[in-house]
Amino acid sequence: MLQLDTQHYQNLIKDAKILEQDERGAKVYETPNNKIIKLFRSRRKLSSATFYSYAKHFVRNARRLQLRDLDTIVIDNLYFVSDENCYLVQYSKLEGVTLREQLKQSQQPMALIQDLIPYLNHLHNKGVFFRSIHFGNILYQANHKFALIDIADMNIYPWSLTFWQRVRNFRHLSRYPEDQMYLQQFGFDHFLQQYFNLAGYKNWQIKCLINWTQSRTAFR
Ligand SMILES: Nc1ncnc2c1ncn2[C@@H]1O[C@H](COP(=O)(O)OP(=O)(O)OP(=O)(O)O)[C@@H](O)[C@H]1O
Ligand SMILES: [Mg+2]
Repeated sequence: MLQLDTQHYQNLIKDAKILEQDERGAKVYETPNNKIIKLFRSRRKLSSATFYSYAKHFVRNARRLQLRDLDTIVIDNLYFVSDENCYLVQYSKLEGVTLREQLKQSQQPMALIQDLIPYLNHLHNKGVFFRSIHFGNILYQANHKFALIDIADMNIYPWSLTFWQRVRNFRHLSRYPEDQMYLQQFGFDHFLQQYFNLAGYKNWQIKCLINWTQSRTAFR
């Protein structure tokens, strides 16, 4: 990890566009040279060690996803800005838009939801349990492949996810009303049926799995 003084920090975000901000200010920047800079700031209640661990996980998860041949961001550097008391991760911008944005602008949004089924199964087979999975953290790339961003909060196991983990992950996936709308339009039952079928479960198991998943998600 590199230490950065305020001057260098200011240089790094010079002429950058703010992509995301909250009450404490900018948290994701896009720089003119196509880099993304994401800030992990200490909050009063959380120690800076906690924030270091988020930033560290972010960097480590990028590497672990790449080792599994899963598209994600490529990290350039992890910095600590002592004057700002924040950690900062710099990585390359991927060409594409979030799945949420793509769904809004697509003529055939249901085809994208259809493509999501094998993608999720693939992630789960590779042992990826991504707690922040939602349509704003899946990028739809210009080459039509999905990629993961915002990857601080995940576990990656050396084995495929169990059925309970798969069921639980659908709860994360379907948290936001704007995403639920598309899953509902596709038919959540239909989505799950195809997903569990692809994951290799038998028809009698799939019925239970769909019921469990639906009883654990905020919508039917
Ligand atoms: N590598 C990337 N390539 C292209 N766009 C990106 C990339 N990383 C982030 N973005 C854009 O920046 C936005 C915000 O990024 P990100 O999801 O990491 O932050 P966030 O959701 O605001 O953060 P957090 O959930 O940690 O508070 C994304 O929705 C996406 O539009
Ligand atoms: Mg996000």
